[in-house]
Amino acid sequence: MSEPLILGIESSCDETGVGIVRGRTLLANEVASSVEEHVRFGGVVPEVASRAHLQAIVPALERAAATADVDLADVDAIAVTAGPGLMGALVVGLASAKALAAYLNKPLYGINHLVGHVAVDLLDHGELPMPSLALLVSGGHTSLLHVRDIATDITELGSTIDDAAGEAYDKVARILGLPYPGGPVIDKAAQEGDPTAIRFPRGLTARHDMEKHRFDFSFSGLKTSVARWVEQRRLDGLDVPVNDVAASFQEAVCDVLTAKTVDAATHLGVGTILLGGGVAANSRLRTLLEERANAVGIELRRPHPGLCTDNGAMIAAVGSEVVRAGLAPSPLTISAHPGLPV
Ligand code: KG4
Ligand code: ZN
Repeated sequence: MSEPLILGIESSCDETGVGIVRGRTLLANEVASSVEEHVRFGGVVPEVASRAHLQAIVPALERAAATADVDLADVDAIAVTAGPGLMGALVVGLASAKALAAYLNKPLYGINHLVGHVAVDLLDHGELPMPSLALLVSGGHTSLLHVRDIATDITELGSTIDDAAGEAYDKVARILGLPYPGGPVIDKAAQEGDPTAIRFPRGLTARHDMEKHRFDFSFSGLKTSVARWVEQRRLDGLDVPVNDVAASFQEAVCDVLTAKTVDAATHLGVGTILLGGGVAANSRLRTLLEERANAVGIELRRPHPGLCTDNGAMIAAVGSEVVRAGLAPSPLTISAHPGLPV
C-alpha cells in the first residue's frame, strides 16, 4: 500500500492549522494565528480565539489543498485535535473535521494535541529512536513524556504543577512592561543581559521536593520572585535592569527544564531527547539542553521552529502513524476534551 494521505486539523488554542502529509512527508502546513487579536488583553481570550477559528478554517483548508495540490476527496483519513485545549476552540476544528469526514465518507481520527508535538518531528527527521523522552514546553503545557510508540504508547512522567513555561515567560514580560507574547521578547532582551545578575529560585529542586516531584516543574514561585524583585527596585527609586532580569529569569527556567529533562532521560535510559512546543524556539533552552544531554551521551532532536508552534501538520503526522498502526477510527460523535491526558 502506498503511504496514506492525511489531512490534519488543529484548533486547540489561538492557531488555526491545516496540514496535509503523505506518510512522513509534509505537503502543506497552513497556519492562521489570532495572536494579534489577543495582544491588548495580554493573553489568549477563548471567545476571541473561537471566532477567529470560525473565520479562518475554510480558507486554511482551501489554501492547504492548493499548496499540496491535493483534492480533499482523495485523502485517506482526517485527523483532528480532540484535546487538550480550549473547549470553544476545539469544537470548531472538530465540527469542521466531522462535516468533511461525513461529506467525503472518510475515516475520522480524534488526536491528542500533545502527541502531535512529538509526532511532528518525524516530518523533519524521520524515525524517532524508541524509547525516547520528549520535553514539551509551550504556553499551555510543560510535560515530560516517555515515548515508547508514537501511535500507541506514550506516558507522562511529569508536568508543571502550576504555570506552564511559556505562561511564565508571558507573565514576566508583563511585569517588565514588555509586549505579549513574552517568550520571543524576553529571549531577545536576555541576549543583552547578564544571566548571573540575579539568582532567582529553581522550582521543585530542593531535596524534599525532589522526593515527590522529581520530574515535575513549578514556575509560579519564580514569577512571584521576579515580581517582588522588580517591585522592590521601583520602591527604592531605582531603574529596573530589564535585560539582566530577563536573562536571569530565563536562566532559572532553562536550568530547571534542562536539569530535570536530562535526569529523566538518564533515569529511563533513553538515548534521545525530543524538544517540542512554542518555547522550544528559545535559543538558550536549546543550547543548554544540547550541552547537558550531549555531556551524558544523549542526542537532542528538535523540529524546526515553524513545526514547534501549534500547527495542523503535527496532527496529520499523528494521523499517519495511527493509520499505519491499523488503529480504529473515532466515531463521528467524538467530542472535545479540554483536559485530555496523553
Ligand atoms: O506552542 P505555542 O505556539 O502555543 C501553545 O500551545 O501555547 O507556544 C506559545 C508560547 C508562548 O507562551 C510564547 O511566549 C512562547 O511559546 N515562546 C517562547 C519563545 N517563542 C515563543 N518562549 C521562550 N522563548 C522563545 N523564543
Ligand atoms: Zn501546543
